[in-house]
Amino acid sequence: MQTGVATGATTADTAAPANTQTAQRIGVPREIFPGEKRVATVPEVVEKLIKLGFSVAVESGAGNAADLSDDAYRASGATVVDSAAQLWATSDLVFKVRPPTTDEVAAMHEGQTLISFIWPAQNPDLMQQLKDKKVTVLAIDALPRTLSRAQKMDALTSQAGVAGYRAVIEAANAFGRFFNGQITAAGKVAPAKVFIAGAGVAGLAAIGTAAGLGAIVRANDTRAEVADQVMSLGGEFVKVEYEEEGGGGGGYAKVMSEGFQQAQREMYAKQAKDVDIIITTALIPGKPAPKLITAEMVKSMKPGSVIVDMAAEQGGNCELTEPGKAVVKHGVTIVGYTDLVSRLSRQSSTLYSTNLFRLTEELCKTKDGIINVNFEDDAIRGLTVTKDGEITWPAPAPKVAAAPAAPKPAAAPVAKKAHGHGAPSEPMAGNKLAIMFGVAAALFWFVGANAPQAFLAHFTVFVLACFVGYMVVWNVKPALHTPLMSVTNAISSIIAIGALVQIAPPLVVGAAGRPDDWIRWLAAAGIVLTSINMFGGFAVTQRMLAMFRK
Ligand code: NAI
Repeated sequence: MQTGVATGATTADTAAPANTQTAQRIGVPREIFPGEKRVATVPEVVEKLIKLGFSVAVESGAGNAADLSDDAYRASGATVVDSAAQLWATSDLVFKVRPPTTDEVAAMHEGQTLISFIWPAQNPDLMQQLKDKKVTVLAIDALPRTLSRAQKMDALTSQAGVAGYRAVIEAANAFGRFFNGQITAAGKVAPAKVFIAGAGVAGLAAIGTAAGLGAIVRANDTRAEVADQVMSLGGEFVKVEYEEEGGGGGGYAKVMSEGFQQAQREMYAKQAKDVDIIITTALIPGKPAPKLITAEMVKSMKPGSVIVDMAAEQGGNCELTEPGKAVVKHGVTIVGYTDLVSRLSRQSSTLYSTNLFRLTEELCKTKDGIINVNFEDDAIRGLTVTKDGEITWPAPAPKVAAAPAAPKPAAAPVAKKAHGHGAPSEPMAGNKLAIMFGVAAALFWFVGANAPQAFLAHFTVFVLACFVGYMVVWNVKPALHTPLMSVTNAISSIIAIGALVQIAPPLVVGAAGRPDDWIRWLAAAGIVLTSINMFGGFAVTQRMLAMFRK
């Protein structure tokens, strides 16, 4: 909760500081980083924030670069203020895109809350300044992405998706041919071949876009688990012939061994000779981008080919990339733009501001325009990097993660006791298991010897179903438990068959035992209810699984 005392205001602003008891004010300043065209909130989202109980102020001209006028903001219910200083001084919460500059931090006041990209690992000085200012900062880039619930707030994903799409558009712009194959009266055109290095969020968006334009798309990633995702988007996964797992935890990659890198270079060299366009997206958190495309590979590409290096800002995946520029080297256009997301500023602003709105909903469950930075909530705890004059980053790992836990290292072999009376723990566990099996067998024998014949048939099916169900469910990742539950829910509706049997007229003419009316009515009700369960379950499962297919 905010105190809203504008102690750090740099201007002789006359507006009264915000009151804790009343709804809070969200301020959206104009982004001042050179070339940044995004804005943290768009007019559609302003309306939703107002419905949540907040008031919204936008700095004049904040949306201009994303084609969003001051009038559009006014029409959505926001107040447009003239100066940034006034905006910072009178807002309880500030929504931004880029990390604040030193001047912007100076304009903040104690108790204020900022939601923005911060990159705490890369910006220790900024973190110190924010701590000294005693402001609460939620770094949208620090969201625990593996929490399924956090996906709606995942601005890294939404922005990477835009960048991946735009990378293909830039490639198409620099490439002198069609992407799709065509047979025309003027001749046959072969489809373009596109190779994507790194199939994370941006890479997958690029695969989908390039495949949608009709190109032949291939992709590679060090994390083998993305192969299915590549194929589901219409690409072909090209494997490196070297056995090494590339996952470094949390869905991210790790630095690979020299042996793997050598094998990967050989495969990339072959692809470079064959394809027309290479889009590189490979990143490793906290490390420089891996150099995947050498100068030799660029030289070997066909004249007129294009490379779009999406990792340019982190040093580039291609040796010849010049960050921020498009250059032609050895007849190949190498695009190293670092503002791909800003090149689709309207789209990226809309997605970003929706991510922030979803976060605001989580912060303000009471819908009264007052936020609560609740540390019991894993997502909010993960995002909060400073609070009450303390640096609270990095947050402890969330309690529930979608990714499976890393396999435990094999336990050191226990030396067998040559002597001694205490039995080692392994045989003990074995004994327990034997006793359990013995008791279960005796129980089954008892049931088999005494139960009526009809019961036994059902009982056998029941026991087998339990066994098969257990074996199927046991290895499912925690992230998939919810879709699993909904699909089992749908399947469990097999109860409808029982109801159908009850409702149906006897098959044999003259057969006795037509069910009473009340049984048939109950069966009919059962069918209606289980149908909802069945079709609803399958529909929900499809929707949830679609969330995992990015
Ligand atoms: P990123 O931007 O850090 O890396 C991009 C890609 O480059 C990654 O797929 C990485 O494996 C790959 N890469 C790194 N070094 C490479 C090399 N030497 N050669 C080839 N490829 C290399 O990652 P991004 O896109 O931000 O996310 C990584 C993964 O995390 C994605 O697959 C995404 O689906 C997953 N993720 C999972 C979420 C969840 O479980 N809810 C949420 C968000 C992302």
